[in-house]
Amino acid sequence: MMKLFRGISAVLGIAVFIATLALTHPASAQRLRSDTVNPSASVTTEQQLLDQLRTVQGRGSIPDTKSYVIEQPAGRQWQTFHETYLHWIGAIAILGIFLLLVVFYLWRGSLHFGERSGRKMLRFTAFERFVHWLTATCFVILAISGLNITFGKELLLPLIGPGAFSVWSQAAKFGHNYLSFPFTIGVVLMFVIWVASNLPTRADVEWIKRGGGMFGGEEPPAYKFNAGEKLIFWIVVLGGGMVAVTGYVLLFPFYGTGIAEMQLAQGVHSTVGVLYIAAMLVHTYMGTLGMKGAFEGMATGDVDVNWAKSHHLLWYQQEMSGKEKDPSSKSELRADALKTR
Ligand code: HEM
Repeated sequence: MMKLFRGISAVLGIAVFIATLALTHPASAQRLRSDTVNPSASVTTEQQLLDQLRTVQGRGSIPDTKSYVIEQPAGRQWQTFHETYLHWIGAIAILGIFLLLVVFYLWRGSLHFGERSGRKMLRFTAFERFVHWLTATCFVILAISGLNITFGKELLLPLIGPGAFSVWSQAAKFGHNYLSFPFTIGVVLMFVIWVASNLPTRADVEWIKRGGGMFGGEEPPAYKFNAGEKLIFWIVVLGGGMVAVTGYVLLFPFYGTGIAEMQLAQGVHSTVGVLYIAAMLVHTYMGTLGMKGAFEGMATGDVDVNWAKSHHLLWYQQEMSGKEKDPSSKSELRADALKTR
């Protein structure tokens, strides 16, 4: 009997030993750890699923498989970007540039060109002005309606109340959607008519070295567009291209794109959008307050001859000689440009 009891004890002892070994073996330990989640286990938490699978996805019966995704952490990251980072980027870029321009104006005032000559010369044709104002008008409405999407809820809604805010936001949204088309056409036309005059030349290097004469000293000679204007041109074309491509992705959601691509498009669109607005503040300033006589070129098509000599001497000489000196401005020569009034 004693022998039998000892035998049973020995068998039990060996069984306990093997069980202990099995449980402490790495493979078994792995199975018990939380990094291999059994989604149906009652102890599984939502967080464990998110950590492991990067998404909580169910099964569905409708054709739209996107609706099966219930949660994904990238959505929260996108929300943080949209609700926090984008606000900071937009506020710093737009208010920062605005303040810099105010300080610059108080310090430097408008750039003058001396006495008017009384003689005018053609700077922009009617078609060029049409393209400029078409694009600019669309841009202003796109900018205001876009900023309403980003900041309206925080800044405007408390001021005008939910009723007025929803009427305005709906109108702004329609404006944003439909004006995107003439805006895109405008950017493409601008590229076509002005690209030749906006290629870099050696004169631009000199212009940049001397800060365009903005911070003192003589204004360096420039062709039809100086280096600063060329920079604005490329921001308009490339920035416009980026907001257009990403904007159409947002306008036609999930046509060949998934959730991740939509989030990326939104991030790029909104960031480029607010930086674009900041850059256009500089352009608007230079075309109005910043440089006396510049606005009339885009308003009437003509500028004073002394304005041309002072700010675009090489262009003035080209126009006068009727010869092509600037390799980047093949289409710009107009022998009949000089008009006397
Ligand atoms: C082809 C041109 C454009 C298209 C197709 C387009 C399209 C769109 C769409 C569909 C949205 C999302 C609206 C919503 O969430 O309901 C949007 C938002 C926005 N757009 Fe545009 N857009 C264009 C040009 C511009 C331009 C030129 C600017 C800036 C001047 C701009 C700035 C913005 C901003 C700031 C937002 C709000 C982003 C946010 O907070 O979510 N867009 N755009």
